[in-house]
Amino acid sequence: MDFQEVEGGPFLLFHCGTGSTLTYAARNFLAGMMAELEPRLTLGERAFELAVRCVDRLEDSGLFNGGKGAIPQSDGVVRRDAGGMDGKSLDALGISQVRGIPSMARLVAALMGQSAHVHLSGSMVERWALRHGWLSELPEEKEDPTFMWETLPGLAGEGTVGCVVRDCQGDLAAVTSTGGIGRMWPGRIGDSPVVGGGFYADNERGAISMTGVGEAILKAGGGGTLLALLASTSKENRDTILSGFLDRIQARFSGEAGCVGADRNGLPFAAHSTSRMVHGFLRKGHHHVSDQASGYRGLS
Ligand code: GLY
Repeated sequence: MDFQEVEGGPFLLFHCGTGSTLTYAARNFLAGMMAELEPRLTLGERAFELAVRCVDRLEDSGLFNGGKGAIPQSDGVVRRDAGGMDGKSLDALGISQVRGIPSMARLVAALMGQSAHVHLSGSMVERWALRHGWLSELPEEKEDPTFMWETLPGLAGEGTVGCVVRDCQGDLAAVTSTGGIGRMWPGRIGDSPVVGGGFYADNERGAISMTGVGEAILKAGGGGTLLALLASTSKENRDTILSGFLDRIQARFSGEAGCVGADRNGLPFAAHSTSRMVHGFLRKGHHHVSDQASGYRGLS
């Protein structure tokens, strides 16, 4: 079945990045995860809670570049980024450059609504986490004497994870989490924790989670821009908009990218300009995992 044709009803879409491989272990893990999430989806768990739960599972698996599997920055330190948005309440939060906490999606959910801010970063998030029992001590400041502040063109996309949910009420949510990209400077922040960059959700516009080279995705305007373009076109033109946007990220900003999402009519989509993007689609009685989107595949 082409999941892009699904209309109505709740569904969950997730991706494990454009840099991941659908290994036997990954396929097994994802099958188990979807079996666990299906009753929550069909019994009415809220979109945002379910998206957080899904990304938490992906982070905890250690199989992808988010949570336990996050890659280190060029000084050897793992600093994670994540963000999420609730398409009904329009609450949104990104957190970036956080050390010592693999459960970034759950940390986003815990911090959401605690302030009016949409982005919090680094050591102050760690201090909040310490105060609220997420850390037993602050991560140690370590200087890598071999690290050179030289140009390290970080253009290798890795296996970011993300999820979009349309729940039983028709509400939408998106969550994205990453360890970043290969060869990145310490302190580098990509698209993943940026509202409208690596994630976005608004019931009136749709929901999206991006993956790929964050610099290129942000320069192209991010996932929020793609949703706006999709919202202003007909259903028939959807694939042209998706492929055109991803082509442009590649051609104009030299970065590969992919996404999963739901448009403003609640129709799911998945697309990538890379040869692969591990992703899955879940709705009642239907579990689908692939590394090829059923719509747009690669550059023409
Ligand atoms: N898309 C993940 C990153 O650029 O960090």
